Amino acid sequence: MNCPTSWNTRYAASVMNTFGPPALVLTEGQGTRVRDISGKEYLDLLGGIAVNTLGYAHPVLVEAITTQVQTLGHVSNFFATPPQIQLAEKLLDIIEPGGASEDSRVFFANSGTEANEAALKIVKAHARRFSPVKTKILALNNAFHGRTCGALSLTWKDAYRAPFAPLIPGVEFIPANDLAALEEAMNEDVAGVFIEPIQGEAGVLPLDTSYLQAVREFTSSYDALMVVDEVQTGVGRSGEWMSHHPCGVLPDIVTVAKGLGGGIPIGACIALGAVAKVLGPGMHGTTFGGNPIAAAAALAVLQVIESEGLLAKVKQNSQKWRSELARVEGVREVRGRGYLIGVECEAPIAAGIVAAGRDAGFILNATGPSTLRLAPPLILSQEEARSFTQALPSLISAAQEAQQ
Ligand SMILES: Cc1ncc(COP(=O)(O)O)c(C=O)c1O
Repeated sequence: MNCPTSWNTRYAASVMNTFGPPALVLTEGQGTRVRDISGKEYLDLLGGIAVNTLGYAHPVLVEAITTQVQTLGHVSNFFATPPQIQLAEKLLDIIEPGGASEDSRVFFANSGTEANEAALKIVKAHARRFSPVKTKILALNNAFHGRTCGALSLTWKDAYRAPFAPLIPGVEFIPANDLAALEEAMNEDVAGVFIEPIQGEAGVLPLDTSYLQAVREFTSSYDALMVVDEVQTGVGRSGEWMSHHPCGVLPDIVTVAKGLGGGIPIGACIALGAVAKVLGPGMHGTTFGGNPIAAAAALAVLQVIESEGLLAKVKQNSQKWRSELARVEGVREVRGRGYLIGVECEAPIAAGIVAAGRDAGFILNATGPSTLRLAPPLILSQEEARSFTQALPSLISAAQEAQQ
């Protein structure tokens, strides 16, 4: 048992039961590896679910956070700080390759769901500029945009939604990559369309380039806003700064979080062009948004991605890794880009593989009965990736045996 009973008992007696019992109690990490309370080491192929961009205790990240907390830990949003401004400028540079429009602006939040709440508020406030007011928002089947009630309204899974009904009205779900369904759903009433370029929580399901381009064309022609949720897929995860970049579309709003702070909570809603003026003073806010420690951490993450050439490395390693994974017996399909990879197994044994992986020293994740999701730190080497591929046949056998 990797999670000692006493810790399990204390967890159950003190932490609200929203996640079920923890698989492990983790105590320390270094690079791509993490240790549990018994001292056992694991290669982390989940990275805090696409969060630990630079792995654990990266010296540049540690230095940035330490220096910032020693200098200025927090100020209210009545004041600005250099890291907050520098990060906003850097994000604008990254989001619009070739230079941001001078109207574009960033709203800082603390998580992915909050970044999407800000985007939703922009969409709703923008909708009120039309007469009649636009009342419909489109999201995709299998979408995951977060758990706060606004973002939850855009999230597909009924099990997440049902206990909190009624949610925000006017949200309509349409099948992903279905151009006819998109065309049918679009009209003057549509205020915005929310999409994830690769649906991560749904099992790493990428959208077609032509679909992203069609969403841009339809939203533009109906004065609706295109919101691209890059919370899981952004900040280098796909081997690009943003996973929608290769599609050549310019959304109205991009949201990021997860990997941005490399483990320090931060989210951002980036409005591109004139739509950035929709929210004015008093219309939105959050105490911690743009906190200098979080902003300094994010700046360090972006700097290391650049200085270590991680985008190119991730892209190159991923191609090799995916083709090697696809050759493993018992693997039906490998999806995704960069270091966000979905491994579809031939049998519904993903949970068994996760458990066998833990025994063998790998942190893994299943998003469905037969789907594994890999979202390791971007610093994962080709050799480390291969060590998992080589172990996978035995993990599959162990999972099959456990099921019999
Ligand atoms: C695409 C996407 N959007 C939003 C969220 C919500 O982010 P958070 O858990 O930081 O609120 C997630 C989390 O998994 C996500 O994958």
